[in-house]
Amino acid sequence: MTSKQRLGVGFIGSGFITRFHLQSWLGVRDADVLGIWSPNRSRAGETAALARTLGVGEARPYASITEMIADPAIDALWICGPNHRRVENLEEIVAALQSGRGTLVGIACEKPLARNVAEATRCVELIRQSGVLHAYLEDQLFLPPLIRGRTIAWSRGASLSGRPYLARAAEEHSGPHMPWFWQGDLQGGGVLNDMMCHSVAVSRQLLTEPGKPRDSIRPVKISAQIHSLKWSRPEYTRVLRETMGSQVDYEKRPSEDFARATIEYVDEAGRPLIAEMTTSWSYVGAGLRLSTELLGPEYSLAYNSLQSGAQIFLSRRLQGGAGEDLVEKQNAEQGLMPIVGNEAAEYGYENENRHFVQCFLAGRQPELNFQDGLEVVELLMAAYMSAEQGRAIAWRPAGLESFVPAVAQGTWKP
Ligand SMILES: NC(=O)c1ccc[n+]([C@@H]2O[C@H](COP(=O)([O-])OP(=O)(O)OC[C@H]3O[C@@H](n4cnc5c(N)ncnc54)[C@H](O)[C@@H]3O)[C@@H](O)[C@H]2O)c1
Repeated sequence: MTSKQRLGVGFIGSGFITRFHLQSWLGVRDADVLGIWSPNRSRAGETAALARTLGVGEARPYASITEMIADPAIDALWICGPNHRRVENLEEIVAALQSGRGTLVGIACEKPLARNVAEATRCVELIRQSGVLHAYLEDQLFLPPLIRGRTIAWSRGASLSGRPYLARAAEEHSGPHMPWFWQGDLQGGGVLNDMMCHSVAVSRQLLTEPGKPRDSIRPVKISAQIHSLKWSRPEYTRVLRETMGSQVDYEKRPSEDFARATIEYVDEAGRPLIAEMTTSWSYVGAGLRLSTELLGPEYSLAYNSLQSGAQIFLSRRLQGGAGEDLVEKQNAEQGLMPIVGNEAAEYGYENENRHFVQCFLAGRQPELNFQDGLEVVELLMAAYMSAEQGRAIAWRPAGLESFVPAVAQGTWKP
């Protein structure tokens, strides 16, 4: 256990997700955001200024990850850089710790843990070498309506009529904000890798009895499909090039903008359970939409993030500028639009960060950790195998350790 009463946290990366975490920090006690490192020093400075303006910590930019670790004020790191930098970020962290440059209590890493199983395994090895507590940042497992919904579905529904047997989880929006997400080699794949990590984790959690370990249900079979439904149409390939730059060339190196997968699990009694997942970057609605269902013998739970808050109507006479002030990945500023009251809380970031801060301060290894991140990557890679081979894949397939999706190799043809 750390002797400190408050945790000093440093962020690696100063982009979109770091800013979301900073917003969420308003609901986190006993921790301050004190450092930001990213290769772009001025952006790190801007994000540190945002932390100070929000009042979540006297953050300052650092010249390197090692310098941040060497500062005794920094007790924990939140890794929020791009996927292709995970392993190198962790290697620098472990080298700094092993050379005695500083100490840390905990390290939390954003989803996905890595681009493929080999890299995710390396991340697990590195974190074990470091001897530091570790957490896997999967915000959707902390989504308030799903936490309550799961509790009630199990306590009122499953306890009287039997366990749930089917979970559905979907995450859809109109496409990522930065070029590297669209580049299969950098990101690790397309939308399946980027967003199905959430749906895999959420559906598995809903099907798992509260209080039981994750492996109380076991995957037995996976089938999946991927497609490029929208963004490899010539007119949209052009739009992508114009908005993201020439490095995103969907004519030559497309990635999937649609993915669906079914994972068949069995519970401890050998009964079949089904998780159905759909993700897309080709959904043009008001904005980001998370939809989830859990079905049991005499009950069903349903959640839709675009239907859970207020709505506003803006008439055609209003010609306001484009923004993201109503909902993440907003697509319109007119008509009937949903408003998500507090997105940082609604999507789970607040609960997530509060939980991991408490674990790290108490010296407790979080149950949701790098091993979970690795297992999610394994399931995603098996889904890519299934999509590429056009058949269901029995768990656990041979060759998973070295498998790299064709999308990530730049050889995929939709
Ligand atoms: N939980 C979620 O719902 C969610 C949402 C968005 C992103 N993410 C994840 O968070 C991570 C960051 O995504 P983002 O949307 O903030 O991306 P982004 O492109 O907006 O920001 C990435 C940041 O990383 C920095 N960076 C560049 N090179 C780096 C390096 N070598 N080492 C460390 N950082 C470096 C960039 O300067 C930038 O500040 C990704 O792994 C992504 O999958 C999670």
